[in-house]
Amino acid sequence: MTSTLTVRSAKPAAKAASTVDMATTLGRLALPNPVLTASGCAAAGQELAQFFDVAALGGIVTKSIMMNARSGRATPRMAETPSGMLNSIGLQGSGIEAFVERDLPWLVEQGARAIVSIAGSSVDEYAKLAMRLREAGGVSMIEVNISCPNVDERGQVGQVFACDPRSAAEVMQAVRRATRSEVPVFAKLSPDVTDIVSIARSCVTAGADGLSMTNTLLGLVIDTDTLRPVLAGITGGLSGPAIRPVALRCVWQVHAAMPDVPILGMGGIRSGLDALQFIVAGASAVSVGTEIFHDPTAPVRILAELEAALAERGFERLADAVGLAHHERPATPGATKPVPPLAAGGGSDDGTQ
Ligand SMILES: Cc1cc2nc3c(=O)[nH]c(=O)nc-3n(C[C@H](O)[C@H](O)[C@H](O)COP(=O)(O)O)c2cc1C
Repeated sequence: MTSTLTVRSAKPAAKAASTVDMATTLGRLALPNPVLTASGCAAAGQELAQFFDVAALGGIVTKSIMMNARSGRATPRMAETPSGMLNSIGLQGSGIEAFVERDLPWLVEQGARAIVSIAGSSVDEYAKLAMRLREAGGVSMIEVNISCPNVDERGQVGQVFACDPRSAAEVMQAVRRATRSEVPVFAKLSPDVTDIVSIARSCVTAGADGLSMTNTLLGLVIDTDTLRPVLAGITGGLSGPAIRPVALRCVWQVHAAMPDVPILGMGGIRSGLDALQFIVAGASAVSVGTEIFHDPTAPVRILAELEAALAERGFERLADAVGLAHHERPATPGATKPVPPLAAGGGSDDGTQ
């Protein structure tokens, strides 16, 4: 999404935060504001309702739902890391029927926008999940978690759909076909790839309306007393501030390559200023995940901080900040000049080695 800049001046005096128009869009979905929960960090929102009105957020992104109930991976499945955490929950959940009967109606009753995350172990399972949600109604958007183990390709243990452009495209095409046209379908991408732009492009060509970036990075922690991995599942997903620069780089690269494709950005967002980085890198909205475990009110706090940060910088509309970091600081409002995109895949071309 290319921004039309209406910054009034370099850094004018702060104005009341409430005067910033925080409305945004994710494809055809209009949102009152750009702060959502991240999948897996707030179930379907019920636990958060004791801290704030879940309808006050841009949306609630649910834990990834699978076809059948799952108990997840063996414990321990959480480990602390410097500035982050490692989890190997393994898509624990009650399955799509329980979700459709219990959680989805609850979200609709609250007036919250339900962004339903789905995960399958085959292309067929993703399509069936999307069909079931279509019958159920009440879904504002589908986020397709293609970063879960791909058992369709058993020969490649540990492979996930999001690491292969062809597999990623097959899933996205199947879900897009099974979903009503007015409901946006976003692909949730993994940062654990050499060239995120090629995966993103493949998903969009297959019909994805937008991209959620990023899921966790695969990590490992070893207990120096037992000399064994801390997690029973050995590896786990790294999240929290430790991954923020990586996630932000992914958003930057994809927005530079495809500026019109909406992005839901996430990865280590702890404050309004963190969220602002994702917005100016090209995200139209952000999800808050790991920070919720530390502060359950984080999504509403971050929304207020983001609004205040935009006001302090002279913005009247959040939409004007989306992707702004790709343009050199304008001498006059509206006069922006694109910054050359980073070379994809890193390496010496972009000065990192
Ligand atoms: C405990 C935990 C469970 C998660 N479960 C899911 C999940 O079910 N589906 C999914 O797409 N992402 C899941 N994620 C990834 C988050 O949605 C998010 O993409 C990632 O953690 C980066 O954001 P953060 O650093 O703000 O947490 C999970 C993350 C954590 C920490």
